[in-house]
Amino acid sequence: MSPRFPKTFDRPAKALSPQEASEEGLWLAAEIALHDERYHGQDAPIITDAEYDKLRRRLKSLGDAHPAALADEVGVAVGAKPKVGFEKVAHDYPMLSLDNAFDDEDVREFERRIQRFLQISDPITFCCEPKIDGLSISLRFRNGKLICAATRGDGHTGEDVTRNIQNVSGLPLQIDHQGGMEVRGEIYMAKGDFAALNLQQVAENKPTFANPRNAAAGSLRQLDEQLAQSRALSFFAYGVAGPQGDDVSQFDQLQDLARLGFAINPDTARLTGADALIAWYQKRGLSRAELPHDIDGVVYKVDDGALRQRLGFVARSPRWAIAHKFPAETATTILTNIIIQVGRTGALTPVAELVPVNVGGVMVSRATLHNEEEIQRKDFRVGDHVVVQRAGDVIPQLVSVVSEKRQPDALPYHFPKICPCPLASKIVAEFDEKTGKKDAVQRCSGGLACPHQKRERLIHLVSREAFDIEGLGPKQIDLFMERGLIDQPADIFTLRLREEQGEFAPLMTWDGFGRQSAENLYGAIESRRTISFTRFLVGLGIRHLGTTNARLLARIFPSMKSLIDAHHLGNLKQVLMEVDGVGGAMAGSVWGFLEDPRTRSMMEDLAAQLHIEAELPKPIMGGKLENKIMVFTGTLANMSRGEAKARAEQAGAKVSGSVSAKTDYVVAGADPGSKAKKAADLGVALLSEEEFMRLLD
Ligand code: IVH
Repeated sequence: MSPRFPKTFDRPAKALSPQEASEEGLWLAAEIALHDERYHGQDAPIITDAEYDKLRRRLKSLGDAHPAALADEVGVAVGAKPKVGFEKVAHDYPMLSLDNAFDDEDVREFERRIQRFLQISDPITFCCEPKIDGLSISLRFRNGKLICAATRGDGHTGEDVTRNIQNVSGLPLQIDHQGGMEVRGEIYMAKGDFAALNLQQVAENKPTFANPRNAAAGSLRQLDEQLAQSRALSFFAYGVAGPQGDDVSQFDQLQDLARLGFAINPDTARLTGADALIAWYQKRGLSRAELPHDIDGVVYKVDDGALRQRLGFVARSPRWAIAHKFPAETATTILTNIIIQVGRTGALTPVAELVPVNVGGVMVSRATLHNEEEIQRKDFRVGDHVVVQRAGDVIPQLVSVVSEKRQPDALPYHFPKICPCPLASKIVAEFDEKTGKKDAVQRCSGGLACPHQKRERLIHLVSREAFDIEGLGPKQIDLFMERGLIDQPADIFTLRLREEQGEFAPLMTWDGFGRQSAENLYGAIESRRTISFTRFLVGLGIRHLGTTNARLLARIFPSMKSLIDAHHLGNLKQVLMEVDGVGGAMAGSVWGFLEDPRTRSMMEDLAAQLHIEAELPKPIMGGKLENKIMVFTGTLANMSRGEAKARAEQAGAKVSGSVSAKTDYVVAGADPGSKAKKAADLGVALLSEEEFMRLLD
């Protein structure tokens, strides 16, 4: 969850002014889009479903309270933009989402809403189905033959995964039906197949999947179709899109689909009235662990086709259906200790150590406690029986204490006043500039001297988004730190020289290193001695300066000299604040970093070891390739693709990752692959590397 909620978030939607509602609405829409992309686009969510639903609910209530103030598109987007690599498919009928019910009252209100809308008082009959935790798919059939299978994507355009679903259990490729038909359903991986896949991944030294949903998503959206087809996926049909699904009862429609050869969920019921729905839901909640597949709730759909047609849709979901979600998976265990983790910028995160417990199929032995305020509010004490919760990929959290089981001698937890490192620096809580309140995050004041921060900074420096030094990870950093060979970033780049000068035994003689791995490591370090100014800035680990902000900074100050000069002039903060996209927080932390003689000399020592490449200035207006859309493919002989891209951009071109009719040039190096073929098919100009260079000259 984003650490910075708008100030208005905790106030009732109705109490906000239209201006406030609109501002918060835009923030929510952006936040939701980010999490949609993490969930649907990257299969790697960073918040729980419950937190996500909270954002959605808030946006909805803002929209209800201030319909005029919230732009139409807010809240309409469903899912994420399609992943590049698959052909895009426009859905004939949008693939929408479902509204959620979290408690009995939400279900009762759902039925009442329908009755009000239809102006009837009789209880409503629903078709009740388990909500499978997989991925929705749209299957287009023509004259009985499957012609296209598409993922949901953003609800309007999905990805063509037809080739990947040739082997899915319960999904026929040929059916007995004339004309067109679009079947909708869920692709999932059964629990047993998921366990087998992970075993195989381990045996092949490949990363495992966190849960069946991620495994299904990773398999379905796999660009290697043979690999995708080898994965054990299953399918349940849950409806027919478009007019054909309109006048039939939902329950009967499922039976029709079963007759055509589709697998349908055997646990489907036709029930009348909210009370019957709630009882049905409760039973499924108790027995879900015994099912061969994951379900995350149940779905109620108005059974009668004519009523469904009258009810229609609101922005992103049908009025005639709702998902009644199960609460996140929880388990009870014992809190054995609370430890404090120190981050790169000194932020302290309390972490609960637990007696390992199985939470929804995953063993959990640690959970986050967020901050001091959270520990106090919920009164977690070492020795307590606690409820731990896990949802999807998200870091497990402690939810509450089982107070009846508290031991009489359990003591309240006191957040330390000093950092747990040998320096024992003071811990400070900062003031939040906006609210004027003390920041919930506590920080170690030791700065660069704190060994924990030092370690985290070094690990960050060598990480992928910064210097990206292969073979130098946390394990190796710890080893070099323990031996006193690396203390500051610059030390990484003097290692080899110091070895040659006999300062320490040759790396190749160390445990765990051989001639080759020592050579590789030194080679990797050497290859990063030349580094772009952006990566250099990211590597410094300045708070609020990730890649995006570093890029922004490097565009204003393309070299270290220009940055330091601006700092000397004394107006750096002001200059930065005037730049679009740079906030006070970032300006302040960059300024603070340069102002502090310790961080400043750390930076200068590191820079002295490197060749820092100044960032290329902005593209020249009227450049030779102005507004041309270019694609690079294959291996170039005289420059990396990154450099070629930068040069093209410098000359005013826009560089794209995929070829379309709009592409002006495709530059093909050796082994160009399918992009060159596509360019030829579309009649797009194909250039060799030499021709590209001539064009630039
Ligand atoms: S009906 C208009 N039925 O849940 C939407 N969805 O947020 C019609 N799901 O995207 C969806 N089981 O991926 C429906 N029995 C079921 C379902 C189901 C799982 C998924 C589906 C959908 C999401 C709703």
